[in-house]
Amino acid sequence: MTEILKIEHLKKYYIKKKIFSSELSIVKATDDVSFSIKKGEVFVLAGESGSGKTTIAKLILKSIQADTGKIIFEDQEIDNQKKNLEKIRMNCQMIHQDPYDSINPRMKIKDIILEPLEIHNVGNKEERNRRVLEVLKEVKLEPVEEIMKKYPHMLSGGQRQRIVLARALALKPKIILADEPVSMLDVSIRAEMLELMRELQKKYHISFIYITHDLATAKYFGQRIAILYLGKIVETGPINQVLSTPKHPYTQALIDAISEPDPDNLHKERKIRIKEALQKKDLEGCRFKSRCPYVIEQCGIEPNLEKVGNEHFSACYVKIN
Ligand SMILES: Nc1ncnc2c1ncn2[C@@H]1O[C@H](COP(=O)(O)OP(=O)(O)O)[C@@H](O)[C@H]1O
Ligand SMILES: [Mg+2]
Repeated sequence: MTEILKIEHLKKYYIKKKIFSSELSIVKATDDVSFSIKKGEVFVLAGESGSGKTTIAKLILKSIQADTGKIIFEDQEIDNQKKNLEKIRMNCQMIHQDPYDSINPRMKIKDIILEPLEIHNVGNKEERNRRVLEVLKEVKLEPVEEIMKKYPHMLSGGQRQRIVLARALALKPKIILADEPVSMLDVSIRAEMLELMRELQKKYHISFIYITHDLATAKYFGQRIAILYLGKIVETGPINQVLSTPKHPYTQALIDAISEPDPDNLHKERKIRIKEALQKKDLEGCRFKSRCPYVIEQCGIEPNLEKVGNEHFSACYVKIN
């Protein structure tokens, strides 16, 4: 498989001013992140809330500017030239967690799906109308003629997310960036939406960046995974390998949090969230050290990703497993 997208040393820091104080703090939203995606592959970016998943998606689409780093699409660096921005925005579509982030509630479904085709001047009017019908059928929203005339609020949450998927498909993208696409849906319809995405991904050989905090859906949909912690990839590799033999203590903690459906589990998850507040202390060295049960002196120096298996990398000095 050839690589379709390469991300190299991407960095995005934010400077935050504390409320009621003149103190400034740095949030390393994306901190030297590199990875690549193959053609037709589903690559998962997983991590807790605040780990920098959405920032990476926005950086790829150039809706925010990186401090440093490169984005290379089909062997060409995407800089800020108009033709390059157009290229990435045509070929790379985003599905947001909340459908209302990408659809205008005042527009009818037909116009919502027509919009990207019009913006990018695709085909003539007749061809564009035909494409709307096609994609609505692809996402299994029927009867199509009726659906097209509706407004988003007249549909269910699951149907709305299918509209977002249809809109993303309209331009026949090579990559879809799906940012927690099912996390706002009822559990009962989550599987259906995932199944539909997988079916279309296979049918059209679309590469996906699937962003999630949920390792169970990641395993169902993805082939390779990168685990993010406070803006850094701490472990990456083939998804089955990473989830069955995690090498980084943070990946282990995430897996433990979902594999023990008992009251302790809830407790653990809560502990993880509370500890997010420790970010400041973790600016030096390994940023997981204040939460890590295996911490050693060496952890004061930031560890790099090292090979731990076939295509499997972990950023940790301690050899576990
Ligand atoms: N525009 C912004 N200004 C300041 N901080 C931001 C901004 N966007 C994101 N951040 C911070 O960057 C970190 C990563 O955020 P985000 O990428 O949204 O994480 P995730 O999608 O994994 O929940 C968080 O600490 C967040 O508060
Ligand atoms: Mg997010």
